[in-house]
Amino acid sequence: MKTASGTLRYGVIGTGRMGRHHVRLGTQIQGVELVGVVDRDADRRAEMVEKYGGAGHAEVEALIEAGVDVVTIATPTIHHRAAAEKLLARGVHCLIEKPLAPSVEEARAIADAAARSGALLQVGHVVRYDPVMVAIRKLGLGMPRFVEVDRISPMTFRSVDVGVVLDMMIHDIDVLLMLMEREPERVDASAVNVLGDSEDVCNARLTFPPGPDGHRCVANVTASRLAMKTERKMRLISPEAYVSADFQERKGNVVRRTVNDARMAQIRADLKAGKDLSSMNWMELVSLEPLDVGAGEPLRLQMEDFVDAIRTGRKPFVDAEAGFAAVRTAERIVAAAKALNAGA
Ligand SMILES: NC(=O)c1ccc[n+]([C@@H]2O[C@H](COP(=O)([O-])OP(=O)(O)OC[C@H]3O[C@@H](n4cnc5c(N)ncnc54)[C@H](O)[C@@H]3O)[C@@H](O)[C@H]2O)c1
Repeated sequence: MKTASGTLRYGVIGTGRMGRHHVRLGTQIQGVELVGVVDRDADRRAEMVEKYGGAGHAEVEALIEAGVDVVTIATPTIHHRAAAEKLLARGVHCLIEKPLAPSVEEARAIADAAARSGALLQVGHVVRYDPVMVAIRKLGLGMPRFVEVDRISPMTFRSVDVGVVLDMMIHDIDVLLMLMEREPERVDASAVNVLGDSEDVCNARLTFPPGPDGHRCVANVTASRLAMKTERKMRLISPEAYVSADFQERKGNVVRRTVNDARMAQIRADLKAGKDLSSMNWMELVSLEPLDVGAGEPLRLQMEDFVDAIRTGRKPFVDAEAGFAAVRTAERIVAAAKALNAGA
């Protein structure tokens, strides 16, 4: 694996909704110098150059010829592979926006190109860097028994080159695979297409194989891009704690078993003795503590971590195989939903 010292020459391929944030970061992150942007749209790349500097190019080849060490690929997903293969073949480190690719076949091809290249590949599963997710991981709860996730938004008419599973649910699929450290053994799903050929709303139930404690985990995941409001919520139940998190509000609560044990033991004894507890207020009985959510922009934390991986030569936090596994699970979900609708 290639390590790097000195300033890294940085470029961004695709400067739309996501790409422009990556361009900005190229002027803010230490040790990185924005040298160029690539976009098919001449006005868009000119706007980026005027605002942030560097050179504008219509094609990836021109950026490679001008000299670049690391890029972010933020084109629509269907174009990730073409750009990634060219850049990886020339030893350029690539941060590729999620999802890695629109299909398992293309994700495999990109992962193989990364393995041949020696350059690093990270997939932009940025929720891993969200301070709310960092706080959840810090609790060290081990494998949960049950997870409930809601990710719903109104239609933005962007990323319609893929369905809602690859567009939105993929964030939660990646986080679940990270938390469980395994892929689901069983996938059930139901989905609805409203605006096109791919699904706009999907609910999936993923059953994960037993963890170290011998128990399975079930995750119930919902994604919609046709909602009337925006919500990003996650609830995790493990034998040790109940965690509820709101990624939009950047906050959450934890109910730990150890903190509540004595009170629960008393309640169990009272119930067993047949006492009438109906006048008790559950909310007052349970001891809640706020989730310790830190500060920081997830996209920036992600880029800083990728730069550190390049400098040290260590494995990126979300490597090609992780991105590939997320796409593979997404395809299983879409296939399960189609099979259900077909009555299979
Ligand atoms: N991490 C996140 O939370 C998040 C959120 C939204 C989108 N995304 C991902 O980011 C990627 C881009 O999405 P977006 O919403 O920014 O799209 P977008 O349509 O707003 O922008 C894409 C840009 O790429 C340019 N482009 C298209 N084909 C190109 C090519 N072959 N070469 C160079 N430029 C090209 C377009 O002109 C446009 O400027 C997608 O993979 C999407 O899934 C990630």
